Amino acid sequence: MPFEGTTAIVTGGASGIGLAITEALAEQGCSVAVLDLQQEALDEQVARLRDLGRDVHGHVCDVTDRPGVEATVERVREEQGVPLILVNNAGRPLFRPFLGITLEEWQGVLDVNLTGTFHLCQVVLPGMVDAGWGRVVNISSSSTHGGQPYLSGYVAAKSAVVGLTKSLALEHGPDGITVNTIPPGFIDTPMLQADAARGRLGPGGVDDAIARTPVRRIGRPEDIAHVCVFLCQDESSYITGQVIGVNGGRNT
Ligand SMILES: NC(=O)c1ccc[n+]([C@@H]2O[C@H](COP(=O)([O-])OP(=O)(O)OC[C@H]3O[C@@H](n4cnc5c(N)ncnc54)[C@H](O)[C@@H]3O)[C@@H](O)[C@H]2O)c1
Repeated sequence: MPFEGTTAIVTGGASGIGLAITEALAEQGCSVAVLDLQQEALDEQVARLRDLGRDVHGHVCDVTDRPGVEATVERVREEQGVPLILVNNAGRPLFRPFLGITLEEWQGVLDVNLTGTFHLCQVVLPGMVDAGWGRVVNISSSSTHGGQPYLSGYVAAKSAVVGLTKSLALEHGPDGITVNTIPPGFIDTPMLQADAARGRLGPGGVDDAIARTPVRRIGRPEDIAHVCVFLCQDESSYITGQVIGVNGGRNT
């Protein structure tokens, strides 16, 4: 139980990649606080994991709502202890031709994918600084490697997450805190399935994407969780400010 007694926060942990990260950290002994918008999915997953004996707490929280984030993190501190692992995973795409994006949509996609990460980092990092130890993993996107048509706002937000990650790593390295980002590529989650159903993966859909992936399979949420757990380990203290691609070789 390498993480016994360590509290972690995972945003967007009621589904897909965040859920797999929650499961993996809890399995290793972490007390995990899951912050998510979806009450029903959150209740269902937290109950399932608790039945397995995991120490997992669910909080309905919108990462874009600063007062809500502050109140939730305070509750986590009281109920589970000071969070020393933070996984900023909550996110959503905006699929739209660039010329059709409204200012409201642009700000909305930046709010969730970038400013949510800013809020959580600002609220959680002081506890890590006091403890002299912390792990932050930001989930960005493989679309940041080469750009993506019709996803300009999303790619802009996720690219900014990469920049934020690098700067925070430099600023808080002396505090014993590592900050890294995993840009996932093509992972089988409800988000990807929704995109495939709407034809957003192109005419060849999932099969075509697999054919263009060197390891010839779709990614699994566990592929990301595995690397996230690795980055959170105490032994990973010399890895910071890094972009660790997990994409089956689609981006090198
Ligand atoms: N699936 C992929 O192939 C892929 C590729 C690149 C990047 N990503 C990124 O990985 C992360 C997880 O994606 P996923 O595929 O598991 O998606 P998902 O839709 O299955 O899960 C996302 C979760 O985030 C939650 N969420 C969304 N907005 C939120 C908010 N404002 N506050 C709190 N929670 C919120 C949702 O309720 C959901 O439970 C996202 O940041 C996504 O951009 C995924």
